[in-house]
Amino acid sequence: MIPKKVAVFRKEHFNAAHRLNNPNWSDEKNERVYGKCNNYNYHGHNYDLIVQVTGEIDPETGYVMDMKILSDLIKTAVLDKFDHKNLNLDTEEFKDLNPSAENIAIVIYDKLKSQINPQFDLKIRLYETERNFVEYPVG
Ligand code: NI
Repeated sequence: MIPKKVAVFRKEHFNAAHRLNNPNWSDEKNERVYGKCNNYNYHGHNYDLIVQVTGEIDPETGYVMDMKILSDLIKTAVLDKFDHKNLNLDTEEFKDLNPSAENIAIVIYDKLKSQINPQFDLKIRLYETERNFVEYPVG
């Protein structure tokens, strides 16, 4: 019998401030490319984070992964670090990395991936607004 794989999801939320800026560009170009997200004094987003873990069901528990463990992990690795923070100023991760939704998703992936059993596939979906969201990895 082929083992059944199931995806489980945990939805979390954090809010954080950021400013998108490329220091190699002129003020005009930054303004043109990033618009409001280039606002000099930063601005906030309400980020919705969906963490997807895919794997085989453990026959003993009936779970793919204990959601309490996943929830605690997201809290420690992500929410405690980013919630109510200015990503550019308050975090090591984005000191030299533009805190676009794309880059935030990759940073979150890397933080969680290293702490989750490697037999699981991990995927991050990050909503910066209700209509704009990114997913990593792709496929
Ligand atoms: Ni923004």
